[in-house]
Amino acid sequence: MRTTSADVVVVGGGIIGAAIAWRLATHGAAVTVVDPAPGLGATHAAAGMLAPVTELHYGEERLLRLNLASARRYPDFVAELGADVGYRQTGTVVAAWDAADLAALRDLAQLHKSLGLTSELLTARELRALEPAVAPGLSGGLFAADDHSVDPRRLHDALLDGAQVVRQPVASIATGAVTLADGDVIAAGTVVVAAGARSGQISGGPAIAGLRPVKGQTLRLRSRKPVIDHVLRGSVRGNPVYLVPREDGEIVVGASSEEAGYDESPRAGAVYELLRDAQLLLPATLEMELVEVSTGLRPATPDNTPVIEAAGPGLVVATGHYRNGVLLAPITADAVAELVLHGRMLAEVSA
Ligand code: GLY
Repeated sequence: MRTTSADVVVVGGGIIGAAIAWRLATHGAAVTVVDPAPGLGATHAAAGMLAPVTELHYGEERLLRLNLASARRYPDFVAELGADVGYRQTGTVVAAWDAADLAALRDLAQLHKSLGLTSELLTARELRALEPAVAPGLSGGLFAADDHSVDPRRLHDALLDGAQVVRQPVASIATGAVTLADGDVIAAGTVVVAAGARSGQISGGPAIAGLRPVKGQTLRLRSRKPVIDHVLRGSVRGNPVYLVPREDGEIVVGASSEEAGYDESPRAGAVYELLRDAQLLLPATLEMELVEVSTGLRPATPDNTPVIEAAGPGLVVATGHYRNGVLLAPITADAVAELVLHGRMLAEVSA
């Protein structure tokens, strides 16, 4: 058995753990990240929408405030990282599939207005002017100018670049120490648990009330040149679907939402449903190369709001980011750094 030490051990090297480790390191802390496969969980499946407006659900105003606060941090966060992480500030187009969708978008536009959010309804002609490749016959839509996107895999790589990473499962956590699967121990002033949907399963770690996995499946399609410029989303006969484009012609199509416990196997029906609905919004998807099917487990809480808090002496937890992990990475990293280094909670997180 070997014992090493760090100021902080971050258990979990997905986008949240990586952002926390990076932020703490910028403050001079010696940080070790422990994860057997960093970035290969929910981060790997994530499309990278940064969408406080179009991910808004009725009754989630507290989450909205947090999402907006993190979205505001993104430009500086990306600039400080200094890497090309595919951050695209092109806005999001929501296409209405039928008259019922258009009516729902009108209600949503009203909600946006009442909350001071920016969105504008689009006629069919305006929709086509923004995205000429959408299916003929779509009746209109909505444009959310402030909802952007980033490539989560590139962001994750940039955050972990140069970090101390131990690629092993954690066997247990105790105050001031993490024991690895091979018996080695890392002594630490603080242990941060950021292990997504598995954050409550670590021996000696925090219990997180109501945390559950919600499986999400995404597809990666590729064409030689981009066929859409904005994030394109919609609901087709009530099924939500989104398409997130990258500069190189990749489109990420998402996402299923399945209460399937910790099962991460890809489901054929989800692939079928995503392709069926995506091509109804954007027929060109059928001609694209299918490059990858990914699944991940979103860490969901009963109120869909993350848990970012001190969980005991020298123990901090950051999980429950559900559908907004990539968006919430900057504010979570800042909040955990504030907690670890100064014992204070960021006002935007506690509000
Ligand atoms: N934020 C999109 C999703 O969770 O599918």
